[in-house]
Amino acid sequence: MNKKPAVFISNLTKTFEMPQESVAVFCALDNINLTIFENETIIIAGANGAGKTLLMNIIAGLEPSTSGEIQISGRVGLIFQDADSQILGETPREDIEFGLKNLKIPKEQIKEKVDTVLKITGLLEKSDSPARFLSGGEKKRLSIASIIAMEPQTIIFDEPFANLDYDGIVQINRLIADIKADGKTIIILTHEIEKCFAIASRFIVLSKGKIVFDGAPQDALKDKLEKWGIKTPGNYIKFEELMWK
Ligand SMILES: Nc1ncnc2c1ncn2[C@@H]1O[C@H](COP(=O)(O)OP(=O)(O)OP(=O)(O)O)[C@@H](O)[C@H]1O
Ligand SMILES: [Mg+2]
Repeated sequence: MNKKPAVFISNLTKTFEMPQESVAVFCALDNINLTIFENETIIIAGANGAGKTLLMNIIAGLEPSTSGEIQISGRVGLIFQDADSQILGETPREDIEFGLKNLKIPKEQIKEKVDTVLKITGLLEKSDSPARFLSGGEKKRLSIASIIAMEPQTIIFDEPFANLDYDGIVQINRLIADIKADGKTIIILTHEIEKCFAIASRFIVLSKGKIVFDGAPQDALKDKLEKWGIKTPGNYIKFEELMWK
């Protein structure tokens, strides 16, 4: 199979001027080199402040880098950690329509696309209910629905499991598996690696703005992960127990 890059990043750096601090320039991302191929499912883990969200904001075009090169194939969709800050419509249907109208999709196609993603995300019955009354898990699924409706090649999930119970985690993992089966590239930013380790094909660790691990999930060693500020359940990672049913 010919692997095509979905995201290509070379020597990317992001610094912030900190005139009030003792160190005048803070380097939040330090010489990042990363190629992500189409249809990979990647976890990017790292302690608080490691640079995960910043890197994704740059990939999604929401923030400029200070230096370096970045090439993206197709559209990138970013699913924020806080679903409330992503939902703009009064109802799920209206929310999904927003993005499609922005992309100038013909009206007759919009209804079909909206119905399809409402079905995929299990929100058909709530399609015309007030979005503000949706549960946390439903809101998370709505923000996913609105993004996948726009058919991005790459979808970034920022802490997709935050505040979800067991059923919510299973639903999100199923959705991620469906999106992957559809040929998309998936990037999951999380420090709760045990919730999605089993569905990942590649595991990257960011520490203080640098990539310190890039390999197969099974090859990540627990003692090293703890050194980088990533907690793992129990004394070791039992890979085969991490499949959510
Ligand atoms: N606009 C900004 N000005 C100054 N520093 C910033 C700015 N945006 C981000 N940073 C800093 O860059 C670093 C990386 O932040 P980022 O939000 O990417 O962390 P993260 O890995 O997503 O952490 P978390 O797990 O807490 O979400 C942090 O130290 C943060 O304070
Ligand atoms: Mg973050």
